[in-house]
This record gives sequence, C-alpha cells and structure tokens, in this order.
Amino acid sequence: MTATLIDGKAISKQLKAEVRADVEALVASGGRRPGLAVVIVGDDPASHIYVKNKRLGCEETGVYSVSHDLPASTSEADLLALIDQLNANPLIDGILVQSPQPKHIDANKVIERIDPSKDVDGFHPYNVGRLATRQPLLRPCTPYGVMIMLQKAGIDVAGKDAVVVGQSNIVGRPMALELLMAGATITVCHSKTRDLQAEVGRAEILVVGTGKPEMIPGAWVREGAVVIDVGINRLPSGKIVGDVEFAGAAARASAITPVPGGVGPMTIATLMRNTLESALLRQGRAVR
Ligand code: GUN
Repeated sequence: MTATLIDGKAISKQLKAEVRADVEALVASGGRRPGLAVVIVGDDPASHIYVKNKRLGCEETGVYSVSHDLPASTSEADLLALIDQLNANPLIDGILVQSPQPKHIDANKVIERIDPSKDVDGFHPYNVGRLATRQPLLRPCTPYGVMIMLQKAGIDVAGKDAVVVGQSNIVGRPMALELLMAGATITVCHSKTRDLQAEVGRAEILVVGTGKPEMIPGAWVREGAVVIDVGINRLPSGKIVGDVEFAGAAARASAITPVPGGVGPMTIATLMRNTLESALLRQGRAVR
C-alpha cells in the first residue's frame, strides 16, 4: 500500500479560517475579542521559533496577543507574579508559558498557578481531569489538533486498535485520553515497554511523540495503518525529520502525516481554537 498524505498545513489553514470567522462573529455581536498572552523564559532557539509561530497564528485569526519575553535569569517568584497579573487581566483569555522552562523554575507550580479557565495549553490538573472524565473543557493542543485532523481527514478511530508511543504530559498521555474518549482501544508504549516492535505492529492508528529522530522503522508499521508523527527533529545535516522513518512507513500505511507540514501546523491552529473557546466560555457564550 502507498499512503495518502494527511496535509496538516491545508487542514490547519481551514481550521484557522474557521476560528477567524468565529472571532469576527463574536466581536460583531458585541463580544470581546479573544486575547492570548504568550510567555517565554530564556533563549532556547527552538522554543523561540514555536513562540513566533504562535504569535503569527494570533495575527492570522484576529486574536489579540501580548508577548512576555523574559530572561533565563527570571526568578520563579517573578514569573508567578506575572501569571497572577495575567490571571487578573480581563482582556486575556489564554495564558501560555512555553516549555521547557529553565531548571530553577518548577514548571508544575507555574502550570498550577494559571487560572484553569485561561489554561489554553490544557495542562492544568483541572483540565487534565476534565479530559480524563470525558467532560473536556480546554484540551492539550497537540492531541486535540490530531483529533481534529483525523476528523477532517475522514478517519474514524472508534473501535480501532490505537497505539501511542511516548507518555509525556504534553503529547502521549492526553493523546491516549483523546483516543479513548473517541472509542479506540488504546495501548501506551514507553521506555519500559518490553516489545515495542510487536506493539507498533498491532496498531491500526499509530501516534508517535518521543522526540527521537526516526526511532520507529517504517518496516514495523502495520499494513494499512494510519500513522501520525508528532516528532519534529533537526538532524546534524539540517534536515527536519519525524519520529517515524517516513519512506518505509509511507510504503505500508494507508495514511500518514508528513514532517514538516503535518501535526506541527495543527498544534498552532488548535491553540487559536482553544483561545477562542476560552473567550466564548468566559463570556458565557456557546461553544460549537
Ligand atoms: N513545548 C512544546 N510543546 C508545547 C506546548 O504545546 N505548549 C507549551 N506551552 N510548551 C510547549
């Protein structure tokens, strides 16, 4: 089988256009324009690229945005004080603190300080609990983006064997909860999994988010599987690759996301969608 490409760039463009239309409809009906605060601490180059793209996403969707670029030396107390200020700011619906944060800052403490109604990353234990109990409010952007992408690509996961490789709080764990909520039978693999190849080989839906370049050989992929590659890795040659060996996987899968141009653009579009949802909820409006 030769896989169909799942065009994350095109689908994210469609999602951003929908968000923009909903933002303008909210404003036209007397509502307040959604606002997002993007906070970055330190100078990790990859994080700065992600943050720049998040700010561009705001421009494209008509979301008001404020930026806080803080030096790596920022104290935890000063960061928490900024979050308190953003929590109290009525113009701000979403607060995002880019990860990873410098080592002297307790990232869990920072996440817990964000007002859950402004937690557009969906990382606060309150929002994780809402998702785990099938009452989602704000949902982690990458897994939510994958679900929107699957839906828009016409791929139904109900009843399918889904295997998630990676158990991070940002990708693997919420991805498993999303797939479970959508009716898949889920397996989550991690560094202690005994036979990763056997688990991957069973997957009708395979989602990989490990941050390890091309760690899943294409030959492991089940014939006809749907492959969602969350990885974005830069090789020493400068080439960007995913966590799955693309050519081999594409020869076996029925559908696959490219890297770049797959999950990456969906994450940004979903962040905009979350900021809109947060603004609607905070203004007592219906979310569709
Ligand atoms: N670092 C990598 N992915 C993410 C994300 O989705 N949100 C935040 N805040 N930081 C990240």
